[in-house]
Amino acid sequence: TCRYAKALQLTLAVIKPDAMAHPLILEALHQKILENHFIIIKSKDLVWRREDSQRFYAEHAGRFFYQRLVEFMSSGPMRAYILARENAISQWRELMGPTKVFRARYTAPTSIRGVYGLTDTRNTTHGSDSAQSASREIAFFFPEFNMKEWTEKEEPLVR
Ligand code: PPS
Repeated sequence: TCRYAKALQLTLAVIKPDAMAHPLILEALHQKILENHFIIIKSKDLVWRREDSQRFYAEHAGRFFYQRLVEFMSSGPMRAYILARENAISQWRELMGPTKVFRARYTAPTSIRGVYGLTDTRNTTHGSDSAQSASREIAFFFPEFNMKEWTEKEEPLVR
């Protein structure tokens, strides 16, 4: 077995409809993933129905931005990735930069959202924020993916 295998972690990364609509931005984000030594385990393009969007963001139901978030995320194609890397979750979030575009522009101008973010809703990308949300979100986007196979072996490929 590869001696680095145990240090891998999985995360879910999503290219949101605003970035998907621009082929050059999509290409730049894909390159960013590769340049930063993420392994792409799986990827797919998909479009959410409104109900998918509501279910995914259920924890934000009632917040002032919930409706616009739900509308936006079901407004067009997205690309989802299962990414593997050492500290994949925090590394991908670091690359994305802060959620809020104003903050991203000023505190992380070279981050993905700092460069491409349009608004707090149209902010180009999503990334899981913990191991628990990564497994929920991977299962949500890739129900066919057998995460147990990766994590529950005697010599797990990821942890
Ligand atoms: S919070 O406040 O910490 O719960 O926010 P956060 O987890 O960073 O983001 C929640 C998701 O809602 C989207 N969104 C907004 N967040 C904050 N303010 C406004 N106005 C807003 N509009 C939409 C934000 O992009 C997060 O989406 P994901 O897909 O999780 O990145």
